[in-house]
Amino acid sequence: MPSAEEASEMSEAQIAVHWKEEEKIPPSPKFVAQANLADPKSLERFSLENFPDFFEEYAELLDWSQRWQTTLDTSNAPFWKWFVGGKLNASYNCVDRHLAKYADKAAFIFVPELEDQPQVRMTYQDLYERVNEFASLLRDFAGVKAGDRVTFHMPMVPELPVSMLACARLGVVHSQVFGGFSGQACGVRAADSGSRVLVTIDGYYRNGNLIDHKANADIAVKAAKELGQDVDKVLVWRRHPGRNSSKTPMLEGRDYFVDEVLKGYVGKRVEPVQMDAEAPLFLMYTSGTTGKPKGCQHRTGGYLAYVAWTSKYILDIHPEDVYWCMADIGWITGHSYIVYGPLALAATGVLYEGVPTYPDPGRPWRIAEELGVSIFHTSPTAIRQMRKTGPAEPTKYGYHFKSMTTVGEPIEPDVWRWYYDVVGKKEAVITDTWWMTETGGFLCSTVPALMPMKPGSTGPGAPGIFPIIYDDSGNEIPRGSDRAGNICIRAPWPGVFQTIWGDSERYVRQYYSKYNKNKDSKDWRDWPFMCGDGAVLAADGYFRILGRLDDVIKVAGHRLGTKELENAALTVPEVAEAAAVPIADEMKGRMPDIYVSLKPGIEPSDEVKKKVTRALEEEIGKIARPKNVYIVPDMPKTRSGKIMRRVLASISNHVDYGDITTLANPEVVEQVRLLVQGTGKVTPKAGHEEVLREVKEE
Ligand code: WT7
Repeated sequence: MPSAEEASEMSEAQIAVHWKEEEKIPPSPKFVAQANLADPKSLERFSLENFPDFFEEYAELLDWSQRWQTTLDTSNAPFWKWFVGGKLNASYNCVDRHLAKYADKAAFIFVPELEDQPQVRMTYQDLYERVNEFASLLRDFAGVKAGDRVTFHMPMVPELPVSMLACARLGVVHSQVFGGFSGQACGVRAADSGSRVLVTIDGYYRNGNLIDHKANADIAVKAAKELGQDVDKVLVWRRHPGRNSSKTPMLEGRDYFVDEVLKGYVGKRVEPVQMDAEAPLFLMYTSGTTGKPKGCQHRTGGYLAYVAWTSKYILDIHPEDVYWCMADIGWITGHSYIVYGPLALAATGVLYEGVPTYPDPGRPWRIAEELGVSIFHTSPTAIRQMRKTGPAEPTKYGYHFKSMTTVGEPIEPDVWRWYYDVVGKKEAVITDTWWMTETGGFLCSTVPALMPMKPGSTGPGAPGIFPIIYDDSGNEIPRGSDRAGNICIRAPWPGVFQTIWGDSERYVRQYYSKYNKNKDSKDWRDWPFMCGDGAVLAADGYFRILGRLDDVIKVAGHRLGTKELENAALTVPEVAEAAAVPIADEMKGRMPDIYVSLKPGIEPSDEVKKKVTRALEEEIGKIARPKNVYIVPDMPKTRSGKIMRRVLASISNHVDYGDITTLANPEVVEQVRLLVQGTGKVTPKAGHEEVLREVKEE
């Protein structure tokens, strides 16, 4: 075990990884027989020699009002341009073009959380009408036009995809903030994006409760105002049209119930605005190294082409499939693989409002059986939860999945096996898709009919994606060497985001600068994309993802920035210093542990701890609730004054913190350890060393 200081200086590449190679499992012949991509020779066309031309077949899955002239333009590297000269509309591609064949086919089946509420079967025709009506309201009542940004703070209801597609129809850039984030977090994002319109809902169901969501809108508008952004219209969908689900008053002249305003737009149609392939389609905020969330800007043409292609060939969606992705549309998974990808293929998607365990752990499998779900898509956190609460539940229901996906965090082989054996009934293939908000769609995955599955590993690069692992000096780490490094992508792909909204300099610095040797180069070969994850490459070409390397804690698969958590704790007046570190959690993978020291003269109390927890919930959301809050006499610090998060993380995770003699205040470490672990005998927790890999010092 290296000392904490050594460990902080040790490069990823030097950390050897030892894990048992799992046996590979082939897909069933039945799956292969029906798969969209089953010819082994088909992969040859995705070789680097054919780059970037092979991406044309992605774009050809879409309808263009004007075909592109240049597939990839690298003249302003690393700001790649895809399908330059092409024009298209995303809402047309996801809705209108399906009407000829699929008008009466369900685009979405909305399943309310309460089982006694009726399901809503929204056909492509219904979707077309609702998108048009809301688009005309947005244009004529809210006064937004192509290029404007509109913030959404919506839960899992069909009005969310309707709102997204209505924006897309107008060329308006939507920015959906996860519904579970706080009003404050929503306001910060609305301000950053420069939105003057907020789309929200009065309430929604979660765990059987009707949540008052409108209250968050008032907080969001206030927070945006404090940051200099006026939100002058708040459009409030109603969970039950005509009836209020929120006690929060409406502000005259600012807040409007959408169902009431829509009465003036019945039957209205809006011509889809044909947008440049490079026009931004949406922003999706995510966390990184700094305290400020960054708005990842995704383009229209390349993004839509990429998610359509990967939905067809990796998720293996056919128009006759009933596809259920349990993710929330408020995250990138939902944007790409609930809304844009599946709708571009005219799929039928299940939209479930609530939590998988409500009212009992049989719920997901009842839904799957009743609706004939054939493709199921979820995260390790959800799988762990479902296994814990109802390990035998899937066996009680007669559904049959042909394929399943896991995404968002590494999955333990043991959890994978339950997913395969019990949920998938040994019939369904599993794709472990690795990617991130910035990348628009999958980066690594098996092609399910052509490559066997390996529990705990994603696959090789998806077709057209060329991953490589570099050590800190930019040397390639060869496959099979058991050494971890920074996983990068060698060549651009159409799904990659365009920039960080309002911060292009940071876009270059954070994703490209580390391995770029010539910043004036116009050759994509000089600009590998740095993903921000540690990874190892096995001899068989399958990648195993180890976790973020950039001060992000992945809670239940969601990215929370260490700095954001710390900043939230620092809003408590009593708190002098704060440090957030990841602690391993059986269900959520990781949770934050928050260490605080108090201002002089303030006594530690449970009251202060509660205030810290409340601050995290209010600034970020309930998802940020810490596992523990510890009030410490002082933070362990280096002589230059930086807080040794790695020492704190070692203590939280019951791992040896190593040599601390070079710290400015080594004596404090033992005090903190006693406070956290007590005086009893502490057994080191197996596997918890891994957590430390994710902890970075400033
Ligand atoms: C981070 C991105 C991708 C959509 C949902 C999360 C981790 C993602 C996997 C996987 C291991 C994974 C990575 C990545 N991650 N998928 N299959 N195996 N880790 O998007 O919130 O932007 O998070 O999630 O650490 O960098 P995100």
